[in-house]
Amino acid sequence: MNIEPFDAATASDADLRAYYEFDCAIERETEPGDPVPPFDVAAVEFREPPSWEVVKRWLARDGGEIVGRSLLELEYVDTNRHLGWFDVAVRPDRRGDHVATRLLAPVVDAAAADGRTVLGVDAVEDTAGAAFVAALGLEKRAVERRSRLLTAEVDRTMLEEWVALARQRASDYSLIGFDDACPEELLDAYVGVTEIMNTAPREELDMEDWHDTPARVREREARRARRRRHQWTLMVRHDPTGALAGFTDIGWGDWMDDLAWQGGTAVDPAHREKGIGRWLKAAMLLRVLDERPEVARIDTWNAGSNRPMLAINVALGFRPVKHYGTWQIATDGLLAAVTKRV
Ligand SMILES: CC(C)(COP(=O)(O)OP(=O)(O)OC[C@H]1O[C@@H](n2cnc3c(N)ncnc32)[C@H](O)[C@@H]1OP(=O)(O)O)[C@@H](O)C(=O)NCCC(=O)NCCS
Repeated sequence: MNIEPFDAATASDADLRAYYEFDCAIERETEPGDPVPPFDVAAVEFREPPSWEVVKRWLARDGGEIVGRSLLELEYVDTNRHLGWFDVAVRPDRRGDHVATRLLAPVVDAAAADGRTVLGVDAVEDTAGAAFVAALGLEKRAVERRSRLLTAEVDRTMLEEWVALARQRASDYSLIGFDDACPEELLDAYVGVTEIMNTAPREELDMEDWHDTPARVREREARRARRRRHQWTLMVRHDPTGALAGFTDIGWGDWMDDLAWQGGTAVDPAHREKGIGRWLKAAMLLRVLDERPEVARIDTWNAGSNRPMLAINVALGFRPVKHYGTWQIATDGLLAAVTKRV
């Protein structure tokens, strides 16, 4: 068995398809029920990463066949330059033989060479992945809850009441929204309002605030279109000042059947406790019910400790589906654990 680098950007179609098939099999195992993106969509993901991101990949091959793969994601933005995020997966029939540990050796070397002092990974709770990262000495620093809303069970009257109540409690605010691409005149304010997500709990994660830029928003929009994905965004404006006080977004791919993802929702601390979070969520959901009746399930991810957001989601009917741990370790600690085993 060989461990070798894999450059998705320059790989032939045949090699990239083999890589994609491997990824799809792992995805079907770890996230059963989730739609798998078709090859043309995944190929954009693999070949055209964002300009501020580098993804390094390695394959374990035996007789030409892929038996495992690892990857390291590196972001080159103004914060969190000390962090790297990795992933690793091994074909079920080759597990328990330290293939994953061997696949981590080049990950750790590349992270260290790039000055990344802390490495992190997500793993579904109570799975082999969680046992694997715990065995290597990573520490669980945060737990995310994945929750699901079945739209057939939504209480439409309650949503309408939430909207009506917000109109009384937050009478000097109004809703504005856009689909897919942010209008130019809102772009700077939109960048500002999305950064309120930095106020969501990060639990014990070693992670700094992130900052966005209009250029990155535009690049993300263009990538979204190339991946046949869509996003609706709804924001609340404080009319007397014109300030944006909060936002929510929901997204899906046109290759997905009945599923949509509820993305971020945040309300500026200066405008909280006026029912704006409920208003945003209810107004967006009403639009989904009216305009996208094919959406049967909406999934969302929240920090397990995010009481205000979970309270709204639970009231809407979101129910927990599973939990993910986010684990971190010092790069030199992971190097020592890997070296000890292989
Ligand atoms: C998690 C996964 C990558 C492990 O691959 P692997 O090649 O079997 O892992 P290794 O043999 O290198 O295991 C290293 C250590 O992890 C622990 N470990 C791995 N799998 C485990 C399991 N199923 N149960 C308990 N401990 C486990 C062991 O302690 C092992 O060390 P030891 O044998 O020296 O004591 C593999 O199960 C997989 O591909 N799962 C699906 C994808 C996934 O969940 N990825 C997780 C991202 S972190």
